[in-house]
Amino acid sequence: MSKGSILVVDDEGTQRDVLRTILTAEGYRVETAASAGEAVEKSGHHRFDLVLTDLRMPGADGLSLIRALTREEPPTLVILMTGYGSMDSAEQAMKLGAFDYLTKPLERDELLLTVGRAFDRIRLMQENRLLRQQLEARFRVEGIVGSHFRMQEVFDKLHKVSGSNSTVLITGESGTGKELVARAIHRHSPRRERPFVAVSCAAIPETLIESELFGHEKGAFTGAATRRQGLFEAADKSTLFFDEIGELSANLQAKVLRALQEREVRRIGGREDIKVDVRILAATNKSLEAEVGRGTFREDLYYRLHVVTINLPPLRERSTDIPELAEFFVARVCAEANRPTMPITKQAMGLLLHYEWPGNVRQLEAVLQRSVLLSDGRAIDYTDLPIEVRFSTLPSKAPAAADQEAERRFSLPDHGINLEEVEREFIVQAMEKSGWVIAKAAKLLGLTYRTLQYRLEKFQIRREGGEEGASEPDAIV
Ligand SMILES: Nc1ncnc2c1ncn2[C@@H]1O[C@H](COP(=O)(O)OP(=O)(O)OP(=O)(O)O)[C@@H](O)[C@H]1O
Ligand SMILES: [Mg+2]
Repeated sequence: MSKGSILVVDDEGTQRDVLRTILTAEGYRVETAASAGEAVEKSGHHRFDLVLTDLRMPGADGLSLIRALTREEPPTLVILMTGYGSMDSAEQAMKLGAFDYLTKPLERDELLLTVGRAFDRIRLMQENRLLRQQLEARFRVEGIVGSHFRMQEVFDKLHKVSGSNSTVLITGESGTGKELVARAIHRHSPRRERPFVAVSCAAIPETLIESELFGHEKGAFTGAATRRQGLFEAADKSTLFFDEIGELSANLQAKVLRALQEREVRRIGGREDIKVDVRILAATNKSLEAEVGRGTFREDLYYRLHVVTINLPPLRERSTDIPELAEFFVARVCAEANRPTMPITKQAMGLLLHYEWPGNVRQLEAVLQRSVLLSDGRAIDYTDLPIEVRFSTLPSKAPAAADQEAERRFSLPDHGINLEEVEREFIVQAMEKSGWVIAKAAKLLGLTYRTLQYRLEKFQIRREGGEEGASEPDAIV
């Protein structure tokens, strides 16, 4: 098993080869880069545990690389390799957060000792992170991802209400996981042995819902050729989930209320009342309170349902859960296709984190399903993501009004576009808007500093008339 991954950055080919040979023989996985720019690009695709970099290289130097890598979360450990007489730079490197420095010519034993110490530190950092994650995720519910404190509150409530027969109203925007939570409550309840029964109040026409819910006797109406049991009866000793309950008509609201109060139902055309023992869960993406105010939802039914409410926050308000959710979906799609899961590159994850997700978790799931199909099979990269995710610009935390949202959105002209040109154009505009300060422009584009730096080099974008070309070391500071 590999001891960990190392990126060796040096403009001299022989130096790279020597380091690769020594470190590979010790069991490390080694990759090399001939410049700081190449190192930035490689570590954008893949996270290395440790970076060993030369100080002096054409283009950006080792110090700028340290600056870029130590700004990451979690930071990458860097060891600087300096020539004789570069003690100033070595000191500066330590101040910038380098793990250590080595003076050239390198000594094998000293090199391995220092690298070994770096990996001890890495293991310690990993253990700490793991412990912290375990603490953060005190509450877990199988099949539901959520470490954000608002999801932890959801799980806490879910565990508390599952054991009881209490009615639970689950609210949240479309795609936030309301049905998933309803099913989890049932799974954790004493009724779990019986099948969960769900009815969508929006999908079935009004005339059918009544017979769906309450059943009918033979000949109760035209077409009722046989007697039929309703969902209330089918859910006896189990759970009945009313999805989109806000869509229920006034007539049915009254009938459902009666069933909840009396705990009995009467089939259409029937004469006797049938006792049922049903636990009710309901979900809505509307504000039932507002519907009550408007007179479209019965207040008495609202209070019956509202005993316990679980509110699922929109995904944009718990974006720290996006990486885990994204990895969860990729792993699931890959497992279904019988193939090993694949990582998501940092650029792609950056875009997923900045997007607003109007369709919430369901939309994230659909985007990743599609990306797995489009990807090269080794990793999900930003080019595998749909255009709306790639071109969602300002990372605004506030829920944008629908029209604002539409205005911000990039719309594809019928004749198509040249994506590279569009990308270049946006980058130039962002640089101009921010007075050619890379950090500011990166924010405008929703990119990391390093990614933008790399793109500037790739597209050879330079300030007209200015000397601050992006490939000059000074411009990177
Ligand atoms: N926290 C989560 N962890 C894992 N998967 C999730 C999570 N939240 C939602 N999903 C998945 O996202 C999809 C949408 O979830 P669900 O159907 O429960 O949403 P909903 O709130 O009922 O949406 P709608 O209002 O549109 O009916 C499902 O495939 C579900 O499995
Ligand atoms: Mg639903």
